[in-house]
Amino acid sequence: MNASTTLIRQVLPGDLDRCFAIESQSYEGDEAATREKIATRIATWPEGFIVAQVEGVVAGFINSGAAFQVEMADEAFKEMIGHDPDGPQVVIMSVVVHPDFQGRGLAKQLMTEFIARMREMGKVRINLMCRERHIPLYAGLGFAYLKPSESDHGGLVWHEMALDL
Ligand SMILES: CC(C)(COP(=O)(O)OP(=O)(O)OC[C@H]1O[C@@H](n2cnc3c(N)ncnc32)[C@H](O)[C@@H]1OP(=O)(O)O)[C@@H](O)C(=O)NCCC(=O)NCCS
Repeated sequence: MNASTTLIRQVLPGDLDRCFAIESQSYEGDEAATREKIATRIATWPEGFIVAQVEGVVAGFINSGAAFQVEMADEAFKEMIGHDPDGPQVVIMSVVVHPDFQGRGLAKQLMTEFIARMREMGKVRINLMCRERHIPLYAGLGFAYLKPSESDHGGLVWHEMALDL
């Protein structure tokens, strides 16, 4: 499948069920956001929520929030508590691609588009937490490794990374 069949666009309310299905299938156990959290992210800041559509099917997405001050281990932020669309800092909450569509460069395409959109919006920094195996993916996109996270979200070990825009 080549890149010309992939469309990256802002999320729409009708994407909720498909995004929840992808999140549940791709993340391990408690790591996955609930349907309610995804609905809140769509409703609160659709500008920070993009999906990759491959031949008409949503195959993956990135969602996020913005803030003036970032506390990466803050669980409440995942429900957009503390989100302020004017905040210069961005926190990515999910980067996820459906298992059927993994390994084709979609996460990289989504991240590249996300970075461009945030830069255009005048944001100054993108922050994220990731598992150890994904550090090279984000490093390849220019993210710097910060530190092991204090978060034990989903009972797992996380690492903090950030990209200055
Ligand atoms: C992580 C995830 C989003 C990657 O999606 P993808 O579309 O398959 O990734 P891409 O094909 O764009 O791969 C981009 C790069 O990351 C690397 N990569 C992707 N998944 C990887 C993994 N599990 N382990 C090691 N490297 C990985 C690829 O090798 C590729 O590197 P390259 O450009 O040097 O070849 C996807 O596997 C997923 O949804 N996983 C479950 C959710 C998750 O853990 N998300 C990350 C949260 S921090």
